[in-house]
Amino acid sequence: MTRGPERVIRDEVLAMSAYHVQSASGMVKLDAMENPYSLPAKLRQALAVSLAGCELNRYPDPTAPALKARLRAVMGIPDDFELLLGNGSDELIQIIIQACARPGAVVMAPVPTFVMYQAYSTIAGTRFIGVPLRADFSLDVAAFIGAIREHDPAVVFISYPNNPTGNLFAAEDILKIVGAVSGIVVIDEAYQPFAETSWLGRLHDSSNVVLLRTMSKLGLAGIRLGYATGRKEWIGEFDKVRSPYNVNVLTQCVAETILADSSILEEQAAEIRTSRGVLLRRLAQVAGVSPFPSAANFVLARVPNAPAVFAGLRARGILVKNLHGMHPLVDNCLRITVGTPAENELFLTAFSSAIADLPDGAARRDRVG
Ligand SMILES: Cc1ncc(COP(=O)(O)O)c(C=O)c1O
Repeated sequence: MTRGPERVIRDEVLAMSAYHVQSASGMVKLDAMENPYSLPAKLRQALAVSLAGCELNRYPDPTAPALKARLRAVMGIPDDFELLLGNGSDELIQIIIQACARPGAVVMAPVPTFVMYQAYSTIAGTRFIGVPLRADFSLDVAAFIGAIREHDPAVVFISYPNNPTGNLFAAEDILKIVGAVSGIVVIDEAYQPFAETSWLGRLHDSSNVVLLRTMSKLGLAGIRLGYATGRKEWIGEFDKVRSPYNVNVLTQCVAETILADSSILEEQAAEIRTSRGVLLRRLAQVAGVSPFPSAANFVLARVPNAPAVFAGLRARGILVKNLHGMHPLVDNCLRITVGTPAENELFLTAFSSAIADLPDGAARRDRVG
């Protein structure tokens, strides 16, 4: 008898690759949309005190009432909306898809977008349909509504702003899509602190929308805390799919302490928004490079030859994300997380020399559009 994973693991899973995290040891890390700033010493001390009081021998309280109250207050979440906490918003994406994964169910999103929508769909055994954005990265509403009519998706994900393109879709386009969907629309606001706008104020208008947020991009990627908010009838169903103790004691404690005075995170987000403007202007000055407007904490830029520039940056100790090959709309694009002003300078210097080093002809190789 043959034994082995091929006999029992589902074909879709066998065909997948594990999520690859680039090694960043010793590099300027501008690949994962992290906040580059650490927390001030006073806050670290406050954290040490609150963490010392944590009961590590006990399971976390899954209802996390104190943390939820803080989140409600800081994020302005209306009382009539429920909150669901996740081990990162990644987990919430997985929970939502899992809950809706009836046989034959379809998950839909504009593409290119956050890759985990498709990955979790595959894992859940649902079908993922990606509807290409227009060349200017706006929603192709007619194509999207056509795809909705054809496939009747159970879940539609809209990353607002969108990763990796960095833009905010037009609200009227999103509203048309929400109106056409009979399932649920998830507005994923992972980058909301850098967009200074939110769908939260519109959440009462539709019965089939939930909002997803994360503390990760705001400066707490290490603690893994995301949340979903929306009507009780949806959140209550998703809550059934959640693992009983998904948000650990330490995460709850850190988030509660920091949210008691979250002004530092808001100040850091403001710094990042300012640095993003500088980075965009400077990138636009490099010959052959086209940066795209961004409402997030990263910048997408089309370069003459993304694989070569990526390798040139890497050789100079700078790690960004090479999107070449992900989707034709982002061919020859790099995604650069906004770092500290000093990191951005290091990046810009390395970037200019990586571009200057391109061999003759390489500048045109692989160029699309
Ligand atoms: C659009 C979007 N949503 C969700 C996430 C997941 O964030 P986390 O699991 O850290 O909350 C990311 C991470 O890059 C993202 O880009």
